[in-house]
Amino acid sequence: MSLIEVKHLKVHYPVRTGFWNRITSYVKAVDDVSFNIEAGQTYGLIGESGSGKSTTGKAIVGLEKVTSGQILYEGQDITKASVRKSMHYNKDVQMIFQDSLSSLNPRKRIEDIIAEPIRNFEHLAPTDEQKRVQQLLDIVGMPSDSIYKYPFEFSGGQRQRIGIARAVATHPKLIIADEPVSALDLSVQAQVLNFMKDIQQAYHISFLFISHDLGVVKHMCPDMAIMNQGRFVETGTREDIYEHPQHIYTQRLLSAIPEVDPTHRQQNRKHRQAVEKKFQSEKKDYYDQNGRVFDLQQLTEHHAAAVKPEQADLCRQEIEHDRYPDELPLRMEVE
Ligand SMILES: Nc1ncnc2c1ncn2[C@@H]1O[C@H](COP(=O)(O)OP(=O)(O)OP(=O)(O)O)[C@@H](O)[C@H]1O
Ligand SMILES: [Mg+2]
Repeated sequence: MSLIEVKHLKVHYPVRTGFWNRITSYVKAVDDVSFNIEAGQTYGLIGESGSGKSTTGKAIVGLEKVTSGQILYEGQDITKASVRKSMHYNKDVQMIFQDSLSSLNPRKRIEDIIAEPIRNFEHLAPTDEQKRVQQLLDIVGMPSDSIYKYPFEFSGGQRQRIGIARAVATHPKLIIADEPVSALDLSVQAQVLNFMKDIQQAYHISFLFISHDLGVVKHMCPDMAIMNQGRFVETGTREDIYEHPQHIYTQRLLSAIPEVDPTHRQQNRKHRQAVEKKFQSEKKDYYDQNGRVFDLQQLTEHHAAAVKPEQADLCRQEIEHDRYPDELPLRMEVE
């Protein structure tokens, strides 16, 4: 059994307009997504701004009301607050928020901010509590006098690290990490990511790792989903997504990764332009008449893409051909 099983999750926000403030339509922030997170593993959620990543994360921690679908934690549906309470869910599942400033109470000192989850779930003597807070700050590389300061006295990167310290304070089983390093400069990014991997090993923590940065996700996540308009366009292993992307949206996202090596820049730009042209001309084959992403089609045991059912066979052949180019000619080439 997986630690978390998300089944057909939908989160729709009502849009109210007019004098009577009536609901006239819905924003389908998350529109029927399913995935599992295994114990001690990292699952990646990638997508452009507004694709529904944070909403998915917040629904899992119980901060967003679920419109329909199930979220099973150790087999129990935690979409109801009473179930979350009965199984210490709020201790076991923590979130690192995307917006570090608004997620830390401006009127509280760092000591109280980090100690808050500990106070909620454990009863430590004041000296032990302070020791624990110091330890956590030390782990995330913050000086020990930080405990007397307030959130506004830190930079974005430092606040993000404080958010991480708070998230790991209760030794959770799952952390929803929403863009945990996006606000950090590159050298600190690597430090925080490696730290997350270390605590994962040490405490067997699972991560839902949310990011729009494909390089970071490649480094962190063996399995992942690409999100677009509240739906999954492609799911699979790191190799499936980065080596054999089948959906046009995934291909476009991958082609937008900046090239570090200047000798490849020209080539990379040409590739990006070619993919963009392909995207514009073939877009209609990957979205239905309302512009909605299709349902996922299983292509291999762990790889799925939101293509038309009749397109799935061709995708399977392409993947086979990519993997074993000498053995199987493409049907398109044979014809
Ligand atoms: N409380 C809300 N009421 C109405 N619409 C909302 C609300 N919260 C989010 N949305 C909408 O839901 C969609 C998904 O938002 P979400 O924050 O999940 O995106 P995201 O993928 O996390 O984007 P980003 O990368 O910018 O953080 C957006 O179109 C957003 O406008
Ligand atoms: Mg977000």
